[in-house]
Amino acid sequence: MALPDGSNAALAEALGREAGADNEPAAPGDVSHCGQKKTQNNLCFRVAERIIKPLPGVEPCRFAPACATRPPVAAFSPPAHRNEIPCRLTAESRKGRHLSSRFITYKKGGEQMVEMKSRWVMWAVLATAAVGCLCSCASMDNLMGGKAGKTPMDIDVEGFGRTADGEQVRLYTLTNTSGLKAQIMTYGAIVTSLEVPDKHGEMDDVVLGYDNLPAYIENSPYFGAVVGRYGNRIGKGKFTLDGVTYTLATNNNENHLHGGLKGFDKVVWDDEPVWRPDAVGVRLSYLSKDGEEGYPGNLKATVTYLLTNNDELRIEYEATTDKATPVNLTHHGYFNLTGGERDILGHELMLNAAEFTPVDEGLIPTGELRPVEGTPMDFTRPATIGARIENDYEQLRFGGGYDHNWVLTRQGREMSQAATVYEPTTGRVMKVYTTEPGVQFYAGNFLDGTITGKEGKVYQHRYGFCLETQHFPDSPNKPSFPTTILRPGQTYETTTVYRFATK
Ligand code: GLA
Repeated sequence: MALPDGSNAALAEALGREAGADNEPAAPGDVSHCGQKKTQNNLCFRVAERIIKPLPGVEPCRFAPACATRPPVAAFSPPAHRNEIPCRLTAESRKGRHLSSRFITYKKGGEQMVEMKSRWVMWAVLATAAVGCLCSCASMDNLMGGKAGKTPMDIDVEGFGRTADGEQVRLYTLTNTSGLKAQIMTYGAIVTSLEVPDKHGEMDDVVLGYDNLPAYIENSPYFGAVVGRYGNRIGKGKFTLDGVTYTLATNNNENHLHGGLKGFDKVVWDDEPVWRPDAVGVRLSYLSKDGEEGYPGNLKATVTYLLTNNDELRIEYEATTDKATPVNLTHHGYFNLTGGERDILGHELMLNAAEFTPVDEGLIPTGELRPVEGTPMDFTRPATIGARIENDYEQLRFGGGYDHNWVLTRQGREMSQAATVYEPTTGRVMKVYTTEPGVQFYAGNFLDGTITGKEGKVYQHRYGFCLETQHFPDSPNKPSFPTTILRPGQTYETTTVYRFATK
């Protein structure tokens, strides 16, 4: 964890004392005392009560975590892994304010995991303190919630059923200090719900999806998923790399789309909770084997979803490989900022893009970068999605509406703004930032009322839109496009942020 200069010594001192403090009586006004508690399951958990020694300029906080079991719930019975127990942490501030944050941890054969998690939280608390919140536990309040009108940051986890192969799927619920909630499941790395406020503070779920796992498995047009190994299309499902021609699974007529027949949206990812001083999250990992869907190389992919206290859903992608391979990971969330009240045609969209990549009838880019100026593809100034979507323009006919990649106007590889979406009836605003060179704006043209989603809502034509930040489609066959080839020794790293606000 990165800490500001000068804070490491204090932190190390505090942590060293914490590590050695177990079972010692508490010195008055000093560090800690810890005990052992046998739970009903006859498993040992550490119960700790300690005072964190003040870091320079920071008021001391009384930090009283207690990690206790709750009876294994159905989803954990039998546990997904042997000896795995969900665990809960609560904390209160020095003034007795109940901060009541929860997190989960897994007990794998001993109390060490619990201790590590406790210490991990200590790291987070200390790092938060060290980065400069100055008075009366403000930093801890930020981590754990507890300020008037604020909710505690929270990670909760529950079972969400099993796949046909019997693999356990878990659902994470992330809550930030403004009360925004994101739910993410380990099947498909899918964001199943995202609750954000409107201009009156009313929370609504602004993404499409289903209420249950079987519906996602049976028929999902990539609702909320991470798509890979290659998001978007590869023409005719073929590409040549270092003189070898690879043939991929074709699942979109003659083309390869979103990773093939069983892409990253249809596998169960490994998971671990992530606590950061200003965000809660889940880190999902998947090993895509050499030859999977026709791709070369074992690809280790990780996707970290973070719900930040700046009201952002932040997605960090990482991958490494042992053979050169194309990689293009993206998030396929369908947004509807009305909360699913009506279609998305009234949403105002701005895209920070002066060009797009026109396509042929199969939606494969021709290789051209075409200026948007003077076409219905021009969103350089905000326009409603519906204003020109039915215009008589060949590209819109090919896509059945907007289903194209825009070339983002950007400088360098730093994160820059890709899009702003404003929904006038609710006042909700979503801004998209990315390190990627392109964004696929898809207007939900294939939704046709045959899908009934969450809470019995029928998803009519254009009921959700996607902003899939990405490299350009068919790049492995288009040498003029930015490369998507990852080679052994390199690390694929991209970040995209969806930030929510109201106006
Ligand atoms: C992407 C594609 C679309 C469609 C949707 C899912 O956005 O570009 O053509 O496949 O995914 O239906």
